Amino acid sequence: MISKEYTSFKLRSLVLKNRFIKTATYEGMCDNGRPTQQLIDFHSRTVAGGIAMTTVAYGAVNPDGRTHEHQMYLHPRIAEPLKELTDAVHKASGKVSIQLTHCGFFSRNKNIKGKKPMGPSRVLNTYGIMSGLAFSRAMTLEEIKQTARDFANAAEFSLKVGFDAVEIHMGHGYLLSQFLTPRINKRKDKYGGSLENRMRLPLEVIAETRQAVGEEFPILVKMNLSDGFKGGFTIADSIEVAKALEQAGVDALILSGGYTSKTPFYLMRGDIPIWDMTKVEKNWLQKIAIASFGRFIIRKYDFSENFFIPLALKVRKAVKMPLVYVGGVVSRQGIEEIMKEKFDMIALGRALIHDPDFILKIKEGSVDKSECNQCNICVAEMDRGGVRCVL
Ligand SMILES: Cc1cc2nc3c(=O)[nH]c(=O)nc-3n(C[C@H](O)[C@H](O)[C@H](O)COP(=O)(O)O)c2cc1C
Repeated sequence: MISKEYTSFKLRSLVLKNRFIKTATYEGMCDNGRPTQQLIDFHSRTVAGGIAMTTVAYGAVNPDGRTHEHQMYLHPRIAEPLKELTDAVHKASGKVSIQLTHCGFFSRNKNIKGKKPMGPSRVLNTYGIMSGLAFSRAMTLEEIKQTARDFANAAEFSLKVGFDAVEIHMGHGYLLSQFLTPRINKRKDKYGGSLENRMRLPLEVIAETRQAVGEEFPILVKMNLSDGFKGGFTIADSIEVAKALEQAGVDALILSGGYTSKTPFYLMRGDIPIWDMTKVEKNWLQKIAIASFGRFIIRKYDFSENFFIPLALKVRKAVKMPLVYVGGVVSRQGIEEIMKEKFDMIALGRALIHDPDFILKIKEGSVDKSECNQCNICVAEMDRGGVRCVL
C-alpha cells in the first residue's frame, strides 16, 4: 500500500501529486526587485526533486512592503519573468505558490514613502535604525483598507502570471503578524485591543483576496503558533485565529512561529551564524553591532526534529481544515510521525536547501535522514548571492 505522504491532495481545483511542499525560504535572487534566471532555476530544480509544490518567498504586495529595496513587489513590470518561472515549474511537473506579504515596521527600505515604515502602532524598529528608519508610525484607517486591497490585487496578479496558489504571510512578525501581536498592536480602534479586533485586518485580507481570485484558487495562510516572547501572540490566540480562518474559507494553514525582530531563530532552531551574518551585513555600524552583541541579543533555541509538533497538535485538535506541518522535518521517521498525527501536508525548508532530491531519496529508500546540521549559514547566504547550503 502506498504511504499517505505520497498520495495526492486537493485544494479547491488544485491537485497536488503528494503531500510535500517546499516552504518559503527567502531566496535573495532578485535584481532590484526583478526575478532572475537564478530564481527560476532554483524553483524548477526544487520541484524536480519530487515534491508537489514549491513556494516563492517574499512577494511584497506593494513597494513599501519590502524589508529592503532588492526584494520583489508584485507589479506588471515583472509579469514576464514570473510567467517564465511558473512555466518552468509546471514543465518540471510541479506546482508553485507565492508568499504574499508586507513587512510593516520591520524595514530598512530607504525608498519608503515619508521615510517612516508603517505598522499597527508606533514602535522602535531596531532593524532599521542604521537606515534612518528608527520608528514606525501607526497606519491610518485608509492605509489599512488599502493594504487589504493590495493583498487582493497581488493575489489576482499571481493567478494571472500562472501561480497555482497564494500563501498569505500572517506570521514571523511581518505586518499581519504585527496586527495579531498584543505587544506590538497598541491601537485603540477596531483594529486593536481584543483578539477579535487584532485579527480584523488579517480576516479582511482573506475576504478581499477571495473576492479577487474567485472560488477555484487556493489561499493558504502561514501563521504563528506562538511568537516565542512574553506579551506576544500565544498558542491560545493561535487556536482562535485558526478557527476564524477556517470559517473564512482559507484552504490550508501552515503552522510556524517566531518573530523576525525579536525571536528570529525560534522558527528555525539550531546554530546562530553570527560570523557569517556579520560578513554579509553591508552597514558597518550594524556589522559592529552584530559582531559585538549578536550572541547576547539573538536568542538561541536548540534544534530537535519536528520541533513544532507539540504546539501544532493543539491546533490540529481545534480545526478540521487542512494543516501543513513545518519545522525541523529531516527524516523518514519524522515524516511518518507527522502523517500519523493527522496533518495533511508537510513543508520543508532547510532539508531541501541542503538537497533538493531529499524527498526522492526518502521515497526510493536511499536516504533516511537529511545531513542538514542546522548551522543556518543558509540564512546569511540569502544576502550573499542567493540562498544555498554551504555543507
Ligand atoms: C534561509 C531561510 C530563509 C527563510 N525565509 C523565509 C521566508 O521568506 N518566509 C517564511 O515564511 N519563512 C522563511 N523561513 C522559515 C522557513 O520557511 C521555515 O519555517 C523554517 O526554516 C523551519 O523549517 P525547516 O526546519 O524545514 O527549515 C526561512 C528559513 C530559512 C532557513
